[in-house]
Amino acid sequence: MDISTNISPIKWNDDNNEIVWLDNSRIPSEEVYNSTKSIERLITAIKTLEIRGAPILGEAGAYGTAMIVNNSQNSKEDIIKNLSNFGNLLATARPTAVNLSWGVAQIKDMVENSLQEGLSPSEVKNLAITNAKRIQKENINSTIQIGKHGKKFIKDGDVLVTVCNAGTLACDGIGTATAPMRTAFAEGINFEVLVTYTAPLYQGARLTAWELHKDGIPIHVITDNMAGHLMREKKATSIFAGADRILCNTTNPDEVGTVYNKIGTFNLALIAKQLSTNSNEVKLHVAAPISTIDKVSKVSDVKIEERNPKEVEYLFNGTKITPDGVSVFNPAFDRTPPELVSSIITEKGVAEFPYTNSLTKLLD
Ligand code: MRU
Repeated sequence: MDISTNISPIKWNDDNNEIVWLDNSRIPSEEVYNSTKSIERLITAIKTLEIRGAPILGEAGAYGTAMIVNNSQNSKEDIIKNLSNFGNLLATARPTAVNLSWGVAQIKDMVENSLQEGLSPSEVKNLAITNAKRIQKENINSTIQIGKHGKKFIKDGDVLVTVCNAGTLACDGIGTATAPMRTAFAEGINFEVLVTYTAPLYQGARLTAWELHKDGIPIHVITDNMAGHLMREKKATSIFAGADRILCNTTNPDEVGTVYNKIGTFNLALIAKQLSTNSNEVKLHVAAPISTIDKVSKVSDVKIEERNPKEVEYLFNGTKITPDGVSVFNPAFDRTPPELVSSIITEKGVAEFPYTNSLTKLLD
């Protein structure tokens, strides 16, 4: 499992007090690390998908908030003012992945409480960095646990499907959707993976293919519209997807286990259902850390990010493919209802449908 030790998608550079990240928008053609001390630049990097993927957004939220604190003057008032102004801008830079606002809140709450308890601004600055590093470490450990819990779903000869990139680049460590694959592969299990393009930004073709190919895992990249045909022809056994948000608000029990993930996940879930028979279910496994679980929101609260129409209108090489004046839609995520999700694999264990009890138990 080369990738987990070789790549650090985001980190804090102590020498320069800055955030460093691997620019996801340029992979696979170039492996470029960018860095900044500026919160505005960090927010741009998040909006333009140089930094992306729910768990990494959690880490970026934590490091970004620590950076806001460290960029402040050595005064309680300045820290609190900057946390309120810039913290909010950072937390809302992308709306669907709950981890971003979670990461911001983790550091913001800790800093405000510490100042309240009388710690000095310079003590709090150090504490903010230490805690952001702790969050990253815990996140990496979570991916290892997700791998251990999820590997039981992969058997010799399986044909798996995955969508977008829920690997190291998006999640750190060994990824989330990729964690069971990597763990099973390291134990000698033979399987192959259909990696869906994931138009319009091709995170599957560019990023997941790059990661899994480096690991030596047998993969085939397919366009999104090949999924139904190929899953039937190749007898796909299961889909492994990540998640940007999983609902667990028990006042709405029917919504518990609702999964928001990259656009196309719902299509794959429907294909899996159609291809399932009584004796052979094609399963959708969703892998995500507990920080992706949202105990507060209802379906009606969740905003699905609508991205720039240019992503649909133009190919990657800059060629315009839609006629001038034609309207396009570009939702970045979709919602898969709980009954189409066979299991939710977290660092604390696996919840299986129905989720009202199984998922809440993992949060205790
Ligand atoms: O728009 P992106 O690239 O930030 O998409 C987010 C994702 O990486 C996916 O939805 C992923 O499957 C879940 S987050 C690891």
